[in-house]
Parts: sequence; structure tokens; C-alpha cells
Amino acid sequence: MSSEKQPHILIIGASGGLGKALVEHYLSAGWQVTAWSRNQLSLKHDALSCLQVQGYAPEQVADAVKQLDQLSGVVSTLGMLHNDSFMPEKQLDAVNAAQLEASFQVNAILPILLLQQLLPRLPRKESAFFVQLSAKVGSITDNYLGGWYSYRASKAALNMLLKTAAIELRRSHKQLVIAAIHPGTTDTELSRPFQERLPADKLYSPGQSASRIAAVIEELATEDSGKLLHWDGTELPY
Ligand SMILES: NC(=O)c1ccc[n+]([C@@H]2O[C@H](COP(=O)([O-])OP(=O)(O)OC[C@H]3O[C@@H](n4cnc5c(N)ncnc54)[C@H](OP(=O)(O)O)[C@@H]3O)[C@@H](O)[C@H]2O)c1
Repeated sequence: MSSEKQPHILIIGASGGLGKALVEHYLSAGWQVTAWSRNQLSLKHDALSCLQVQGYAPEQVADAVKQLDQLSGVVSTLGMLHNDSFMPEKQLDAVNAAQLEASFQVNAILPILLLQQLLPRLPRKESAFFVQLSAKVGSITDNYLGGWYSYRASKAALNMLLKTAAIELRRSHKQLVIAAIHPGTTDTELSRPFQERLPADKLYSPGQSASRIAAVIEELATEDSGKLLHWDGTELPY
């Protein structure tokens, strides 16, 4: 039997399409998995502990962090493109403060506050990772189509927040990699309203995307900290 310590990953947003698939992926890869979600999770496994965290408010997260053991890494899948009140804006006319605020809250503000609160559980002197799923449409350079104002802008803000933290933490946490990963268009609730016109080979299953995300994580090196990475491991422009 190997004497190596079992690696421990925290998956945040574990009831979502990619969150659930990532939990399943890391359990089958033999990791100890902690799963946070606003929802009660039904999955049972000896190596899995689940915690309901209401809305990821800082007080709720602080309580959840107290219950956490040391981590090898974190993957946050938090993200919102549409909800019961809005769909992505097709034109300037549709842009409104409520949608911008809600998108920035979920896509940019919650993730950086999670990193802030989780930092004490990430090792200072061993390799570790904090990955937040982002999106290629958050790349300003790659924006050729326009539209989706709130989602694009909030993911661009996320990328900037993560890069800024990566620069700062390079000094105190020399082996910590902070990365934003674009998972590719995956068959989940988030992409469902936009799948119709996609070629079948451009829509990936959650399991397939989870394996690809895990493969990118496996290859992360300290020089990747602060980068936006495609699911194939290549760097995307900001
Ligand atoms: N699916 C795609 O095609 C695609 C493409 C590019 C990027 N992405 C990115 O990949 C990530 C995962 O997406 P997904 O496809 O798995 O979407 P999903 O099934 O909708 O899951 C997103 C998760 O985000 C959390 N969330 C959503 N709204 C929230 C809110 N108002 N407050 C707090 N948490 C909220 C939820 O976590 P709980 O478990 O706590 O409910 C939810 O499970 C997102 O960051 C998304 O932007 C997805």
C-alpha cells in the first residue's frame, strides 16, 4: 500500500452540471473530496463529505472553513449566465443594473472572496491549486461576436481578480497555482438554452469536461499561476 497521503480537494458548486461531474471524477481517482453546495447533495461515498453552504455568504463560508481539513486544491464551479429573471443580453438596450450586479456577484465577487477565506487551508510550502471555472467569452481579446454583456464583463473581472491574487500570493505561497479554466461548452443547465445551434461534436458531456479540467489541473506548474487556460491546457488571451 502507498504511504502517500490521500490528496484532498474541495469542489464548490457541487450540485451543478460540472460540479457534480468533478466530484465523481475525483472520487473515482481516489481523492478525498469535500463538496460544497447551496443544495443538499444525495451522493454518498466513504471519501466524500458534503456541506450545504447557504448562498456562499462570508459568514456561512467562515463556518464551513472551520470544518475543513488542509486541502491540496480547490475547484470552484460557481457561475451564472441566466436565471429565472434574465437571459444574456443580445444588445445594449437590454443591459440593466440588476443583471450586471447579479452576474458580478456570482461570477467575480463570490470567487475572489472564497479564495480569500480558503487561503488558510491551502499549504504555503507544498504544491496546491485554486481553480475557478471561467469562460472564453470573458476574454476581451477574443470578443469578436459581442452580446452577453453581463456574463462577459463579470468573467473578465474574475480573470483580473485571479491574476491580481496570483501576483500577490506568489510571494507567500510559492507553490500555489491560481488559474481560471474554460471548460468548453458542456451540456448543463447553464448552456441548455443555447445548445440548439451547436454542432453535436462541440457540446461536451459533463464527465468529458470534468476529465479534461482534471487533466489541465494535473499539469499545472507555478508559472501557470494567474493564467486563463483552455480545457486543452493552452493559454487563452485575456
Ligand atoms: N456549461 C458550459 O457550457 C460552460 C461554458 C463555459 C464556462 N462555464 C463555466 O463553468 C462553471 C460551471 O458551470 P455549469 O455549466 O456546471 O453550470 P451550472 O450547472 O449552472 O452550475 C453552476 C453552479 O454555480 C452555482 N451558482 C449558480 N447561481 C448561483 C447563485 N446565484 N449564487 C451562488 N451560486 C450560484 C451553483 O452552485 P450550487 O451547487 O451551490 O447550487 C451551480 O451549481 C461556471 O462558472 C460557468 O460559467 C460553463
